Amino acid sequence: MHPMNSDQSIASRISELRTRRRAVILAHNYQRGDVQDIADFVGDSLALSRQAAKTDAEVIVFCGVHFMAETAKILSPGKTVLLPDINAGCPMANMLTRRELLEFKRRHPGALVVAYVNCSAEIKAEADVCCTSANAVNVINSLPPDREILFVPDQSLGDWVRRTTGRPLVLWPGYCPTHHRILRRDVEEMRAAHPGAPVCVHPECTRDIVDLADFVGSTSQIIRYCHETDAPAFIIGTEVGILHSLMKQNPAKSFHALSPLADCPNMKLITLEKVLWSLEDMKYEITLDETLRLRAFQSVERMIGL
Ligand code: 13P
Ligand code: SF4
Repeated sequence: MHPMNSDQSIASRISELRTRRRAVILAHNYQRGDVQDIADFVGDSLALSRQAAKTDAEVIVFCGVHFMAETAKILSPGKTVLLPDINAGCPMANMLTRRELLEFKRRHPGALVVAYVNCSAEIKAEADVCCTSANAVNVINSLPPDREILFVPDQSLGDWVRRTTGRPLVLWPGYCPTHHRILRRDVEEMRAAHPGAPVCVHPECTRDIVDLADFVGSTSQIIRYCHETDAPAFIIGTEVGILHSLMKQNPAKSFHALSPLADCPNMKLITLEKVLWSLEDMKYEITLDETLRLRAFQSVERMIGL
């Protein structure tokens, strides 16, 4: 391979441009391994939001999906936020439109709306508070006990939070197609193949998978659990990109994907080359109408403040 085409040379050109542009590169735990390796910060949705809010860089290159880059723009309006592939969307976020949410609210007058951050800025603007999978239980527990709560757009996370908190949430029927590909049969087969290995799953999985798991948490909570738990092997029930961090941080332990089909094609649209092009051409810039941004900011800010 020509040296200019190697990952090494792309990585060094990214580093050079990152300094010149005064940019920070944020990557979600589901990103490709080589993208995670060049990022300044890798984390779950909550940690990435916090990072986007506090960075003093002028440019944020967001290696994740559209709603994550939008959340960074909501929190840091003065910064240029770039998404290296504008087609990196999230099907779950697209399962709820503003019109549908307004109708849902109309049918439940007086209810509070909790929006999982996996939704558009328009939905965040209509919500009372946002949450991520890492803090959804705390967010729900912080709300007045006498108010009805609409939880959007993920029915699986909502179902898990409803059962964990005992609050009767009204759920929107959205879901993550990637996590819903994990089946009960996968758990049975993987437990038989790796006896004694703890099964760790994301709450975007269906209820039958969540009920069979030893640990349920956000991507960073799964990473922490695997690091702190004294076991030689783990079975991981979330998007397979997370295995990169797990293996890197715990070379003496082994990690097995619950299903190889849990591979999010949207997350994988971001490649090292696209990160480089993004910094070269300052593409694709995420912009938001200021009135909409301010309304969405309130919901995200309430979550971060909790
Ligand atoms: P977390 O990193 O917050 O667990 O996010 C899961 C997810 O599906 C992001 O798309
Ligand atoms: Fe959306 Fe699921 Fe992909 Fe996350 S893993 S971006 S929720 S489709």
